[in-house]
This record gives sequence, structure tokens and C-alpha cells, in this order.
Amino acid sequence: MCGIVGYTGTSQAAPILLDGLARLEYRGYDSAGLAIRDGSELAQVVKSTGKLRSLIEKTDSGRSLAGTCGIGHTRWATHGEPSQTNAHPHVSGNCTGSACGQVESEVVGVHNGIIENYLELRDKLSRHGYQFYSETDTEVVVKLIDYYYRKYKIGPVDAINRTLVRVRGTYALALMFRDHPGEIYAARKDAPMIIGVSGENSYLASDVPAILNYTRSVYYIGNLQIARVLPGEVHFYDLNGDEVQLERTEITWDAKAAEKNGFEHFMIKEIYEQPAAVRDTLASLLCDGKISLADTGLDDTTLRSVSSIRIVACGSAWHVGMAAQYILEDLAQIPVRVELASEYRYRKVLSDDRELLIVISQSGETADSLAALRKGKDMGIRTLAIVNVVGSTIAREADHVLYTHAGPEIAVATTKAYSSQLIAIYCLAVETAFMLGRIDEEAYEYYIQELTSLPDKITRILEEKERIQWFASKYSNARDIFFIGRGLDYAISLEGSLKAKEISYVHSEAYAAGELKHGTISLIEDNILVIGVLTQKDLFEKTVSNMAECKARGAYLMALTSYGNYSVEDSADFTVYVPKADPHFMASLAVVPLQLFGYYSGVARGLDVDKPRNLAKSVTVE
Ligand code: G6P
Repeated sequence: MCGIVGYTGTSQAAPILLDGLARLEYRGYDSAGLAIRDGSELAQVVKSTGKLRSLIEKTDSGRSLAGTCGIGHTRWATHGEPSQTNAHPHVSGNCTGSACGQVESEVVGVHNGIIENYLELRDKLSRHGYQFYSETDTEVVVKLIDYYYRKYKIGPVDAINRTLVRVRGTYALALMFRDHPGEIYAARKDAPMIIGVSGENSYLASDVPAILNYTRSVYYIGNLQIARVLPGEVHFYDLNGDEVQLERTEITWDAKAAEKNGFEHFMIKEIYEQPAAVRDTLASLLCDGKISLADTGLDDTTLRSVSSIRIVACGSAWHVGMAAQYILEDLAQIPVRVELASEYRYRKVLSDDRELLIVISQSGETADSLAALRKGKDMGIRTLAIVNVVGSTIAREADHVLYTHAGPEIAVATTKAYSSQLIAIYCLAVETAFMLGRIDEEAYEYYIQELTSLPDKITRILEEKERIQWFASKYSNARDIFFIGRGLDYAISLEGSLKAKEISYVHSEAYAAGELKHGTISLIEDNILVIGVLTQKDLFEKTVSNMAECKARGAYLMALTSYGNYSVEDSADFTVYVPKADPHFMASLAVVPLQLFGYYSGVARGLDVDKPRNLAKSVTVE
């Protein structure tokens, strides 16, 4: 949700900020803007609607904006339609917000998140003579800072502090003050923000890829902390205005990992990175051929004390949870409940103190998942986060963290992070099963061997991608697609269906195959595409029967199963095979053709698959 960048140092700021915004465009892409300062000159503001490209053209790739200090923003609209007026940066002066050029304002700022009480604050400021040019909550917060700054004749840190205690919501802010050239002020609450320092240069961004090319040494600014960023130095303050010391963290991600490296889109590159992501995540959890959860701090005694597991997550991470319930219940024989974080956070939850709450999140910043984690912690429940982004809020607040090693994921639709999360779940399930005596040593070793064979099997599927590519192009104009499966195959269907709809905009639904006849089958008519997922031997015949029921009503059937199950061709019109693996781990293989199907359907329709309309990668608002 919205990307923020900032730079102050010895180089020209605009090209650095545009480069950073390009790497954050997955966070929002309906408009973008920059505010640049050249020494003590007033800030120059330039904004533009649409993708970042139009801002790049408008500023001649940043060359038309001189100055070594600046902030930038790429927007995912929450308050107010995407327009030049509503685009950030916003200013404290009573000017027309769509105007670009030098602005006389005291304060200029960009914002990610939502200010919930902005209407009340707007009324207050209107009574004090402020006029508003935009519909945004951001303009309100910038003007509120300006109000305190002038009224009490205090410094930026104190003015921001007074504002933070008045606003409700989630936010990350980057601000420049007219009287403080060369300085950027930043603050956050439940929205990500990192600050990097290298030599005489300082960088600020919503996410790591924006600054990876410049530095890997970063500070994670804490909730309700303020940063004063100067060239080559940064100071942090708490809500009392007292200076606080923060530790620096070294990012191990390779800058190249955040580049397309010759691939047409990040999504296909990330699909191809899955063997490595799976291998790396597995390697981080294996020690001398045994699973080790030592890095998470979950010791044997703790694991043994767990009476039930609850998994909360959003989007594809929730689909991992759906798969996890089958795997954990079957292997470890512990009751598992899976919930959408947005539902869990607002309902009365009954838990006992031996529950383990697992929050799965690629970004570690998803607002609903974070709120669910906090709710669990407030209830005194032990929490484990399965997270990809090191140092993210969920990772820092959970009692235990299991990091996936997918590297930076840029495409909005997740692929390699999903696959890495599955590996984390498999290891947790196998280890818990072994520790609780549900499986013996022989089975334990068999499962580990099966796990280590997954990367090569995924590579094999990728080598055979042409078939699914052809099929996706053929069906890219389908009106509706139904994905059906039972058990773990239902969980896989959920992810396949999401990939199809979010990338190609074709309506698709996933159903537990046995549930079809309770209503949905009325939607099946001639040539509707039904994709049956059949990786679970025990349920194979049942799902084939449900597919046959669809075919009898005119559906065109695609089957997705493992090599050897050739009898499916008696019913299916088109079949995709994946290598065999232990049934518990089949999601890792079956999901790959479905990711490819979604990707190639979107490409065939000429869509921007990395940045599907209305979506954002990291959803830091409710
Ligand atoms: C967005 C992304 C999805 C992702 C979901 C949860 O909707 O587009 O790909 O699964 O957020 O994100 P998280 O970072 O918590 O895994």
C-alpha cells in the first residue's frame, strides 16, 4: 500500500528517488510524486497520475529537478480518487494541490496508511483557517504538523510528536520542513519504514528493494518513533522527544534478486526462483540431515506442550494455512484451525493457554495479520510468525519467528514466498510429529528425503511449461473457471483460483469438489472450464466423479495430477502431470502449473501481470 522513498546526501536526489519508486511500484501505482530541495531553496513538487513512467517522463528522468534532498511516493488510493490533486507529496500551504513547481509551504510530506480520524482533524484545522485542496487524509496530517509547528514554535520532532498523539490509524510519514534544508523527518505506526546510511548519504524507504542498490545497512524505525535523517547520519527520538539508540541490521538479500534479470516480468522470474527459494528455506531448517527449529526458539518442551494450533493469515498465506491444517492434523495429530486474519481480529475467540498461534505473512506487515498477532499476544497465547521479510513488524513482535528464504518478492501475486511458506509448514509438521512420537525414525527420514527432492521436481515442472503455456493462451478469454479438489487438493485449488483471477481478471472460484452439487453446479454450462486437482490418491476417484458430473453438463475439463494417474484421461479433455511426491507435500508441485496458468493467461490478455489492477503487494491498511 503506497511506497515511500527519501534521500539526502551528496548526489542528485530525483534520479535516486525515481529508481527507488520503480522498485516499490508493486506497493501502489495509481499516481506518483516527488518533492526535491536544492539547499535552502523551497521544495519543488512534481506529481503525475498513472504509472510511474509518466512521472519519469515529466521530470526528464529526474534531471529537471535539481537538489540533493527529497521525498517520493507511489500511491494506492485509499481516501480520494487517483488524481494529480490527491497524489502525494502534500503540502501545508493553502495552494492548489495539483500545481507543480516551487511551493511556499512550511511542511511537505508523503504518507502510507490511513488516518482514521482525519475528518475530525480536518474540521479542527478548518476552524483555524486551513483550507484543503485534496480529499486525502495525508493533507490533513501534514497541515496538523504545520499547525503545531507554528503554534508552539517548536522543532519538527516535537511538532510530529504532538501530531502522532492526535492521529488514529496506521501510517508511515516522510516530511521535509522549510527551515531545515537537507533534512528529512520520518515516523511510523504499524506501517513499514526503513532507513539506510552509507557514507555521506542517507536513504529511507517503505521496503528493502528500494535501497538495496545503495546500502544494506538499515535501521528499522520502531512504532511511534521519529527519525531525523541528515546526509550520512540519522537520529531517533521517542514520543517524549528523547533521543533513542537503534541497532543497525545488515540485509543479506542480493541486489540482483530484486532485478528482472532478463525475464519479461518479475512474476515469471519468481516462479523460476522457486526451486532455489524452496531449497534455501529447507536448508535453513535442516541441520545434519535433521529438522532444527532452534533458530525459532521453539524448543522440544514448548512444542510438546502445544494442545492446538490456530493459523491466521490473509490471501495466499491463508491458503498455505488451509494446506497446513491437513498436513499438521495428519502428521502431528494436533487440532488445527485456520482463520482469515481480518475475521479473527474482530470476533470473540476462545483459546486455551496451550494454543500456538501461527501468523503466516510474506511481508510481515499485513495490517490484519499484525492485528491478529497482537490480539493473540494480548490473550497470552504463544505466537509463531512465518515471515519472509527480516525485521518486519510481525517478525519483531511475535514470540518466535521462522524466516522463509524466498528473497525479495516483487510481483504482486505471490509465488516463491507461498512455496517457501509451505516448506516451513512441512518442517514444523514433520518435526512436531516426530517429537510427539506420531511418526518413527524411519518415517522421519523418509519425509526429510521427500522434502529434499522437491526443488528438483519443481525444476522438472518448469522445464515442461510449454504445455500449460499453450493451454493458458487458449483459455485466456474464458468467462468463468472453477477449480475443484478435495482435502489438500482443495487448498491447492484455492491458490490456483486466486492466481487465475488476480492476474488474468477471469472470474474463477475454488470449491471443495464434493460441495459443488450443493449449488455451484447450477453455474456449469457448455464450455465452462473446470480444473480438477487430483494429487491425493485416496480422494482421486471421488474428484474424478465430480469432474464427470461437470462434464455431463457441458464443462471442458482440465485435470492436474501426478504421473501414473493416466486413467484420468478417460474423463479429462486436457491433463497436466507433475512428478510424484509424498501426498503431504504435493501442494509444492501442483501449484506450479497453476501459477503458470495464471501468469500466461494474463500475458495472453496483454495485462500488466506484475501489477494487477486495484491490488497491492503489501496491504498495510484494513
Ligand atoms: C496481498 C498480496 C498476496 C498476499 C497477501 C498477504 O493481497 O497480493 O499475494 O498473499 O497480501 O500478504 P502477506 O505479506 O501477509 O503474505
